[in-house]
Amino acid sequence: MDFQIFTGNPAELTADTLVVTINDNGELSASAEKIDTASAGAVQARIKAKDITGAAGSSLTLYSLAGTEASRTVIIGGGKDNLNAVDANKIASAIGKAISGKEGTAAVDVSALATDSRPQAWWAEQIVLAVHAAQYKFIATLPGKEPTPALDTLIWIGDDVKDALTVADAKGLGTSYAKELGNMPPNICTPTYLADEAQKLSDGAGFTCKVYDEKEMEEMGAGAFYSVAKGSSEPGKLIIMEYKGAGDDAPHMIVGKGITFDTGGISLKPGAKMDEMKYDMCGAASVLGTMKTLAELKPAINVVAIITSAENMPAGDASKPGDVVTTLSGQTVEILNTDAEGRLVLCDALTLGIRDYKPATCVDVATLTGACMAALGKVNSGLFTTDEELATELNTAGAYSGDRVWRLPLEDDYQSLLDSNFADIANIGGPLAGATTAACFLSRFTEGTRWAHVDIAGPAWGGDGTSKGATGRPVPLLTTYLLNKVS
Ligand code: BES
Ligand code: MN
Ligand code: ZN
Repeated sequence: MDFQIFTGNPAELTADTLVVTINDNGELSASAEKIDTASAGAVQARIKAKDITGAAGSSLTLYSLAGTEASRTVIIGGGKDNLNAVDANKIASAIGKAISGKEGTAAVDVSALATDSRPQAWWAEQIVLAVHAAQYKFIATLPGKEPTPALDTLIWIGDDVKDALTVADAKGLGTSYAKELGNMPPNICTPTYLADEAQKLSDGAGFTCKVYDEKEMEEMGAGAFYSVAKGSSEPGKLIIMEYKGAGDDAPHMIVGKGITFDTGGISLKPGAKMDEMKYDMCGAASVLGTMKTLAELKPAINVVAIITSAENMPAGDASKPGDVVTTLSGQTVEILNTDAEGRLVLCDALTLGIRDYKPATCVDVATLTGACMAALGKVNSGLFTTDEELATELNTAGAYSGDRVWRLPLEDDYQSLLDSNFADIANIGGPLAGATTAACFLSRFTEGTRWAHVDIAGPAWGGDGTSKGATGRPVPLLTTYLLNKVS
């Protein structure tokens, strides 16, 4: 997408689509006013006729308005003066829908909606992300289906927010990439597929990429990772991508759970909706999506991205409840439930990453627990950390991007729920506080490092039936968080 800034009269602007706003009292924004004047009252007439009310996110399309140059003019309802987050999002999304799905040029003026907390740069970002979202369509396994036509140029009417537009375009690209990986069927999107994607992305962007296969992991002593990987005929992979944009600074590390299908293993899951467990690699997908964004923007920061990937299957050589394995850290784990596999592949990835890269900070993202989804639904991801600064940074990035997190406890009082009489740690903590005990498990492998865990079990995918799909979250969160570190 190309971007231009325009400050003249929108009535004189040649574009395929022009977007202006009115508020929910039916008051015109400055540009709606100019269009109304140029068209001898055509906008006011539609408001009077109640064709549009101004409710947040409502829209009305007028074609070839006399006195204006645009082929179509879309009036968008800007809602009340003090917009809440839900309404602001509705508006951005409505604008995204209005201007996407067609090639050509769109011009947007939302300056009347800008406030201190949501300046024009914020609207620019949200609208560009909404365009990407509206344009995304999964067609990889639908022969004959065509991709949605893509908008060529977005003309921003207002402040010079070109930087925000460019950054948002890269975030949108990364988010759509994460969606695509998340939606890919599990017979295609295997650990090997993720490793190939990481290699391709790295080759194109100049990242270094290193892939350990499951045998190397076993030989290295990563017994927890191997205990999951060995149960599948699809070989497990630990993938490490390194982006260097800031010399010798200690890197920021992001780690993603990449279980490309989670049957539960011998602790088999029930059959209903088991197809959804293909989304158990959305942590990995969002790490790849984030690296895609960084590849576009090349910011001044060092990032190490780790994907820990395997298929969790029931098989003759799968782990059994009661097995005890030795992790890369040397700590032993009693596997009481093979369906708590995410923490097993993550713990060795954390140990290896921290050992080999000594990161300044480490954030893992994982579809880790049904308990987190039960607590927070699909709105917020669960945030677990004892590092207040990291908590603030992630909260801020979540609130700004709309890819929100909600902090849940990670207190020492919960640690004893993981006690085992046969190993240093059990891999489950009983029926209580399931999201927290999962985070407690991971905390045993991150001591001494500034670390946060983000449980994305709810937000990583949404919808039902034929509307079901990956959301690309938490790419907006991770990219915003990392880019905020660039001073
Ligand atoms: N991948 C699941 C968590 C999950 C469940 C994500 C539903 C999204 C939707 C994870 O591997 C898992 O099975 N967790 C168990 C843990 C339990 C055995 C302690 C769970 O949440 O039931
Ligand atoms: Mn599981
Ligand atoms: Zn899982």
